[in-house]
Amino acid sequence: MTFASTWAELEPIGRNARTGGYRRYAWTDEDAALREWFTAAARARGLDVVVDRAGNQWAWWGDPDAAPGVVTGSHLDSVPDGGAFDGPLGVVSAFLALDALRARGFTPSRPIGVTNFGDEEGARFGVACAGSRIITGQLDADRARGLRDADGVPMAEAMTRAGHSPAALGRDEEALRRVGSYVELHVEQGRRLVDLGRPVAVGSSIWPHGRWRLDLTGEANHAGTTRLADRDDPMLRLAAVITAARQEAQARGCVATVGKVQVTPNGVNAIPSAVTAWLDARGSDEAAVRAVAAAVGGVGGGATEESFTGATAFDPALVARVAALLDDAPVFGTGAGHDAGTLATAGIPSVMLFVRNPTGVSHSPAEFAEQADCLAGVDALATVLADLAGAPGGPPQ
Ligand code: GLV
Ligand code: MN
Ligand code: MN
Repeated sequence: MTFASTWAELEPIGRNARTGGYRRYAWTDEDAALREWFTAAARARGLDVVVDRAGNQWAWWGDPDAAPGVVTGSHLDSVPDGGAFDGPLGVVSAFLALDALRARGFTPSRPIGVTNFGDEEGARFGVACAGSRIITGQLDADRARGLRDADGVPMAEAMTRAGHSPAALGRDEEALRRVGSYVELHVEQGRRLVDLGRPVAVGSSIWPHGRWRLDLTGEANHAGTTRLADRDDPMLRLAAVITAARQEAQARGCVATVGKVQVTPNGVNAIPSAVTAWLDARGSDEAAVRAVAAAVGGVGGGATEESFTGATAFDPALVARVAALLDDAPVFGTGAGHDAGTLATAGIPSVMLFVRNPTGVSHSPAEFAEQADCLAGVDALATVLADLAGAPGGPPQ
């Protein structure tokens, strides 16, 4: 199984023919197809597959209860019209790195796991990294079950339809006990590696980031017969909110995005009765990010926090060790959220590898990585796994 043939198996699943982007949302038919692909890829390698309380998939080389394992992987879901690489590159590279280790005759002294975390993007139910947050207790099970998609379907119902019991949701001690350390390979979501002329970097930290919902209400009325002075139009408040998000982020050294809105009733010739908008704000300083959200909420009449993740530093010793292993690879942080961050927050030594993206674009069909760089990523991941899972009694603990 080559990188190209493995990639080709995944490529058609969830691809939108019109946009060329991917729509791989949690607990949908596309998600089921991706999960089947994961199971088949694991079985083809003779790996046992287990599913944890949140539905995340784990494929194990070796007995996962023999010792805390070295786990690698990522996610297979996407944002709306996302790229092919964000998530899948980490899962495919994990399987290929295992193949490389076996081809070298490597015998691990501790179990090695490959994981597919569910619902990392939170595109359907709103909370990012839902799978890893649920098993670490960072997302309350009752709250998760009650999260609704745009059609009002609760996560519990979507899970049930997909064959996973929502009653099982909760912190999963068994799954967590098995993870001695976690390495997530990911396509870079920026252009630093292009500028540095290197194919692979080591991720050291994740910015504080959060999502807030703004519920803007007004009065529905006729677009032709209602005088401007008589209107109560929530779309105007949305315009002010969007402008404030940009200004406040700029003033405080942060970034802020309003990337999703729902308009009711959403008619060309009707003044809306309600607009719901979501603010995504991030930055290096947690207080500044919160201040942006508070200021934007002030303009919009209040903002409800749907999720927040504080500053996350990956294990410094692990970061330094991995960078040294990879010929002093560049080390930098990111403004993107990842399951590796959730696991790090839960106390699991974690680290990331980033693979060069020549477009620098992500969460878009323009996201890309050259095959030579993907192969360099697989090689780097195999080197890291061999180190972490090699020496008996060595790291990680
Ligand atoms: C996930 O990719 C995020 O950073 O939102
Ligand atoms: Mn993403
Ligand atoms: Mn990702």
